[in-house]
Amino acid sequence: MTSPNSEAPVLVGTSWKMNKTLAEATAYVDDLVGAGVPDVVDAFILPPHTALAAVRDRLPRDSRIRLGAQNAHWAAEGAATGEVSMRMVRDAGATIVEIGHSERRTEFGETDEHVACKVAAALDHGLTALVCVGEPRDVRDAGGSEDHVVAQVRSSLSMVSGADSTSVLLAYEPVWAIGEGGSPASPEQVAPVVRAVRRVMAERLIGEAGTVLYGGSVDDTNATELLEGAGADGLFVGRAGLSATGFARLLSVCAAAHPLRHSTPNDREVDDAAIR
Ligand code: PGA
Repeated sequence: MTSPNSEAPVLVGTSWKMNKTLAEATAYVDDLVGAGVPDVVDAFILPPHTALAAVRDRLPRDSRIRLGAQNAHWAAEGAATGEVSMRMVRDAGATIVEIGHSERRTEFGETDEHVACKVAAALDHGLTALVCVGEPRDVRDAGGSEDHVVAQVRSSLSMVSGADSTSVLLAYEPVWAIGEGGSPASPEQVAPVVRAVRRVMAERLIGEAGTVLYGGSVDDTNATELLEGAGADGLFVGRAGLSATGFARLLSVCAAAHPLRHSTPNDREVDDAAIR
């Protein structure tokens, strides 16, 4: 299947990046839990490593908010000063681990090979790998977005071929769309790349259709059009999720947009034709 499943909840997550003390993290959890997560939305939050265990302990036992880490090393333990392992983030409460965010790639030299090792390590430790991919501006301008992203997804999944599709989430985040100074991609720009990502996931993974998110300058003013027109299963945000009230507002907007996502047989035929 190449279109989002209109019955499935919308998946909406946020990374806090390098923000929040323990007190700020627990206050956020209280506020978000108080606001509630709409039924048709699945939510996840990625605090900094220092706050993982505190957030886990603060979330109610029956909470529908999933918890994840923003990065982890591929080795289970060892002499890697300043790093934390998949095993350690899992122990601290993460069930998801983000891998290959563009800030990791550009500021910390993370390569496609590192990403592939980390995806394999995440799955070995029972974590869901949230793999971020996306092209820089010059690649988009040259018309190479799909090829670039397809190569990234193939490489990311190269060590886990045959794994279950539910163990991997793919986030398409064009580098030029992320953060201050970024501009959100249009649904028309996102849709063909999302279809290409789905096709590679279907080649490499087994089971149900893989989950693909869009990220990059998403907020409550553009979430609806992106969910409606980009064919993604959900959204991944930075700034729009940095306050609990902002994230709760975004979740409500996504819940309202949920029935607008299409998955008719005709849509699927069109999608399939477009990727052949
Ligand atoms: P942004 O960040 O929503 O602040 O653009 C997105 C991301 O880095 O994933």
